[in-house]
Amino acid sequence: MSKVVNVKHLSKGFEKNKFILKDIDFSLEKGSMTALIGASGEGKTTFLNLIGSLDNSYSGQIIVAGQDLSLCNDKKLSHLRNTKIGFVLQEPILIQRLSVEQNILLPTVYLPSKAKNKTKIISRMHKLAQYLDIDSLLPRDPNTLSGGQKQRVVAVRALINDPEIVLADEPTGSLDEKNAKTIIRLFKKIKDEGKAILTVTHDKEVAALHENIFRLSNGKITKVN
Ligand SMILES: Nc1ncnc2c1ncn2[C@@H]1O[C@H](COP(=O)(O)OP(=O)(O)O)[C@@H](O)[C@H]1O
Ligand SMILES: [Mg+2]
Repeated sequence: MSKVVNVKHLSKGFEKNKFILKDIDFSLEKGSMTALIGASGEGKTTFLNLIGSLDNSYSGQIIVAGQDLSLCNDKKLSHLRNTKIGFVLQEPILIQRLSVEQNILLPTVYLPSKAKNKTKIISRMHKLAQYLDIDSLLPRDPNTLSGGQKQRVVAVRALINDPEIVLADEPTGSLDEKNAKTIIRLFKKIKDEGKAILTVTHDKEVAALHENIFRLSNGKITKVN
């Protein structure tokens, strides 16, 4: 199996001599589904942001899709984030002056033109939106959506560029049980296509739907199952 995320000796603190993450080794294989659990404040979001290259202040090594993040310039990092990583962040953020559809298509705007196949992108959008039952919301103003609907829109946006890695921070937090299960089922389909999924969750039932479960506690990540 090949690793699409490989973390070695990762440490991070926000204050001097106070580490949130302590010498962590961790990896994600292609075609795998992993849940990360842990109490609030243990550093789960911090860890996800580091892997997602949203935070470049750390010690140790983070390799994502073959790239050592510390050796990438900003342009390379933006490209990596946009094409290889799908983010579902804890707070679903949508741009207000754009329609739901325009929000979903935003990551495709920055694709190099040779990688852009409009027909394929639109068909992918509808397929994902239908799966999460938000197809009818595409023309809407994001302000008019419920929290759960926004979360599903963010999930479609995260997957629109067919990323290698999906990083999801409490993706089911604002969803009812049925929609939570649907999102995890969608992740499973994507996993079967060879992608790596990492879901942060405090929900034991959601975690149990992942093949690997890890816990972050006292700055260390340990396997639970
Ligand atoms: N930008 C920041 N500056 C200072 N402290 C932070 C910052 N971000 C997070 N922290 C602290 O790091 C710890 C871990 O936070 P976080 O990663 O959000 O935890 P979790 O997602 O597991 O709830 C918390 O104590 C939090 O207060
Ligand atoms: Mg968090």
